[in-house]
Amino acid sequence: MNLKMKYILFYLLAIIVSIFVLSCSELNTDIPSVPKVNTHGDSDSLYSPTSPNFHPTTIAGSPNGMYDCQECHAADFSGGITGVGCNTSKCHPSISVHVQGIIDPGSENFHGNYIKNDHWDMSGCQSCHGEDYSGSTLSPTCLDCHTYPGGPENCTTCHGSPASNAPPQDLNGNTSTTERGVGAHQIHLKGGEVGRNLTCTECHNVPGGVDTPGHIDPELPAEVLMNNPRANTTTNDDASPSVPIDPNQPTYIPNPVYSSADLTCSNTYCHGYFKNGNLDNKPVWNDPSTSQCGSCHGGGIGNPLPKTQSEGGSHPNSTNCANCHGGVVDQNRNIINPSKHIDGLLNLYGNDIKY
Ligand code: HEC
Ligand code: HEC
Ligand code: HEC
Ligand code: HEC
Ligand code: HEC
Ligand code: HEC
Ligand code: HEC
Repeated sequence: MNLKMKYILFYLLAIIVSIFVLSCSELNTDIPSVPKVNTHGDSDSLYSPTSPNFHPTTIAGSPNGMYDCQECHAADFSGGITGVGCNTSKCHPSISVHVQGIIDPGSENFHGNYIKNDHWDMSGCQSCHGEDYSGSTLSPTCLDCHTYPGGPENCTTCHGSPASNAPPQDLNGNTSTTERGVGAHQIHLKGGEVGRNLTCTECHNVPGGVDTPGHIDPELPAEVLMNNPRANTTTNDDASPSVPIDPNQPTYIPNPVYSSADLTCSNTYCHGYFKNGNLDNKPVWNDPSTSQCGSCHGGGIGNPLPKTQSEGGSHPNSTNCANCHGGVVDQNRNIINPSKHIDGLLNLYGNDIKY
């Protein structure tokens, strides 16, 4: 390397070093000086509501409220350089929710996401925002945004919509019926086209409040129970006085089971486990095509005629349904009275009877 090159290298290095030094000092001036806080007197006074050192009092006097404490106690209040975390279990376990994005639904720091990731526990929020979420001296109310009765504990805050407590939305905000959390909820609850309307109690234990035991458990999926009378309706038994018992068929006693593994219902009265019905039908909760006309009784899509004698059943081999079931279907097989369809009783010649 010749002398000229050595000089060039030297100057280059000198320039780089000086840029570095300059930018560092610029960085230094960028950091705002830590605001002076007067909280830190003796430990007891910090926690004594009557002391001027009471730490909430200091927050009240700080220009940026509790965000000023983040300068030393870390952005997520876990302690940082002070080694004293505010979010320990005995103090304010959920205070770390207060980071940028807390009220932006599009941010991963949105408070709804925080609560979801904390097993939907809002008791920590209540310690500052009030038992009824209406706020306290320092902490703003939740009720300005959560305006429904009960505020954040309203049944539609985490699932459902103002029109229904049931999804959509599901717990992850999904609205499509092909998502397991949404599925066939609304068609069961207020479909109104094919069958009568169901209530939540026909498939779930319904909590009286958000804290009711059994409501929010550690893990999804939600509990689906089939202990309602309708899904368990028996047919071709002694309790069926109005249609003769078929001696060639057993009494049909459903054993309704919901499988959260493949999202199917099997052995339910409603979906085919009845005299002359499709005993093996297993509708899939999030696949609407599995509940077509003909899937619960009949030979598949479009043919709802129950099993006739030649198929091992006892239904008359006559396809003009409206002639005998005119209370439920019209000549074009449209269901004209959903409240009498899938209701546990056979509508025959205008009467609702057991069968
Ligand atoms: C300039 C840095 C700094 C700022 C800003 C700051 N703190 Fe602290 N804080 C500390 C340090 C350091 C400690 C640990 C001191 C000790 O107790 O030894 C501490 C401890 C505490 C303690 C525990 C005291 C104890 O002994 O149990 C509380 C409570 C506290 N701070 C509240 C606040 C609040 C509220 C704010 C905001 C208004 C705040 N701090 C802002 C540095 C700071
Ligand atoms: C600035 C308005 C605002 C404030 C204040 C507010 N929230 Fe929310 N909160 C929202 C919005 C917006 C949503 C999202 C609604 C949606 O996704 O449909 C939400 C969602 C939620 C959810 C549902 C989360 C989910 O993923 O389904 C809970 C629980 C919740 N907030 C609790 C609280 C609590 C507790 C407080 C008070 C400590 C509070 N919120 C304060 C606006 C607010
Ligand atoms: C240690 C007390 C404390 C706890 C615990 C606490 N908060 Fe807060 N929260 C505050 C204070 C104080 C503010 C006001 C901060 C500010 O903007 O100056 C606030 C602000 C908020 C805001 C913004 C309100 C607005 O209108 O901008 C939301 C949202 C919120 N908190 C939600 C929650 C949720 C959800 C929880 C529980 C997971 C919770 N907070 C737990 C004290 C607390
Ligand atoms: C803070 C959020 C939140 C609020 C508010 C809430 N729920 Fe839920 N709910 C959940 C979660 C989470 C699940 C799923 C629990 C699981 O894994 O079983 C759930 C599940 C359910 C289920 C399905 C059955 C079950 O227990 O799994 C029903 C029914 C239900 N909730 C009804 C309600 C009613 C009624 C209210 C109002 C009194 C309500 N929920 C308020 C979060 C909430
Ligand atoms: C026909 C039966 C049925 C009825 C009626 C019903 N559900 Fe469900 N529910 C289900 C099934 C099935 C799932 C999905 C469980 C799974 O993921 O395995 C579910 C899941 C849920 C979930 C969890 C959603 C998620 O994101 O995972 C909630 C919340 C819920 N139901 C609330 C309700 C409420 C509230 C009502 C009444 C307004 C209701 N359900 C009525 C069958 C039903
Ligand atoms: C989800 C299962 C299911 C589907 C899908 C279904 N049915 Fe039914 N259907 C039943 C059950 C269960 C009965 C037994 C009587 C009762 O409980 O109402 C029945 C009974 C009937 C009856 C007898 C009258 C009565 O009592 O209701 C007619 C007619 C009928 N269905 C026509 C149809 C037609 C037409 C379609 C298609 C548009 C259809 N069904 C789709 C379950 C179903
Ligand atoms: C000629 C009169 C008649 C016609 C037409 C008729 N049904 Fe029926 N249906 C009956 C009688 C009688 C029963 C009771 C049969 C039994 O249980 O042995 C019955 C029962 C049923 C049941 C309950 C299951 C069963 O077989 O007991 C369903 C479902 C049903 N009918 C659907 C239909 C549909 C769908 C059509 C048109 C495709 C239709 N029926 C046409 C007379 C008729």
